[in-house]
Amino acid sequence: MKFLYLFGYPLGHSISPAFQNAALRECGIHGVQYVKKSVPPEELQQIILALRAPECLGANVTVPHKQTILPLLDEVSPLAREIGAVNTVVKRANTDGSVALVGENTDAYGFMQALRARRVDPRGQRVAILGAGGAAAAAAYALAEGGAYEIVLLNRTLARSVELADRLVQKFPLMGLALNDWDALGKTQLLVNATSVGMSPHPDASPLPPHVVLARHAVVYDLVYNPPMTRFLREAQAQGARTVGGLEMLIYQGARAFELWTGKRAPIRIMRAAATAALQEIIRAAGQKG
Ligand code: ATR
Repeated sequence: MKFLYLFGYPLGHSISPAFQNAALRECGIHGVQYVKKSVPPEELQQIILALRAPECLGANVTVPHKQTILPLLDEVSPLAREIGAVNTVVKRANTDGSVALVGENTDAYGFMQALRARRVDPRGQRVAILGAGGAAAAAAYALAEGGAYEIVLLNRTLARSVELADRLVQKFPLMGLALNDWDALGKTQLLVNATSVGMSPHPDASPLPPHVVLARHAVVYDLVYNPPMTRFLREAQAQGARTVGGLEMLIYQGARAFELWTGKRAPIRIMRAAATAALQEIIRAAGQKG
């Protein structure tokens, strides 16, 4: 048996195993299983050992290892280095018979693909991102690459927005950047929540301060996928905004990782059906407990 791993801590209810295993089955890849491995931060080295083992074919990496794993890998793709976070590790066989652990970031791709599927194009637009962590960085790079005219970064901790803005300005010197300008939301065509605020088990929280008025016809995108309809999206919808939920990004980042590991085209429909069913099951079980 060979394995693809998901490393994180704590891992809780992840739906990645459900849709990655469905994709493996659909593509006829037998004898390979995608499994969760809970590894606390102080045991980061265990991840590298597990990755180097011959039975491991690759991995996803999630909180809290996405940033700290970078210096331990043999190579990091330019995009993952710019974003400062790795969510996928690919094992590359070198011509001399050695194997290199290569860090990739598929979050930016997943973020943009979910927008494209809804026919949202950031080119020439003012966009705003709530948050300044790894997810916000992936969103910011994707939007900057996608031709956004200005990015407004809104974060509780200003120092983290400043740090992200410093990195963005080096790569995209012509793009506009604004920090913690909440008034800009009235003139923002796309607003992204890349914080964890509103995520289960705290669905009553919203990352937006009360009484913020959104631009007319704004698109509002929440990277949170549980619950599927967050308070942030609900309130934006009430203001007439078009909304995009976080499940599509999760599926597309996983699809890209699957393609990097297997070299096969990801069966998106099968992955979406499995992800949706797994999420519904988690919500149903939580409802029974509560
Ligand atoms: P990820 O990799 O998922 O982005 P992260 O790097 O821990 O995770 O970032 C989490 C983001 O959610 C941060 O922008 C964080 O704000 P701070 O930089 O101020 O910590 C934001 N966040 C988390 N809880 C929050 C809360 N209760 N209110 C406002 N922002 C919050």
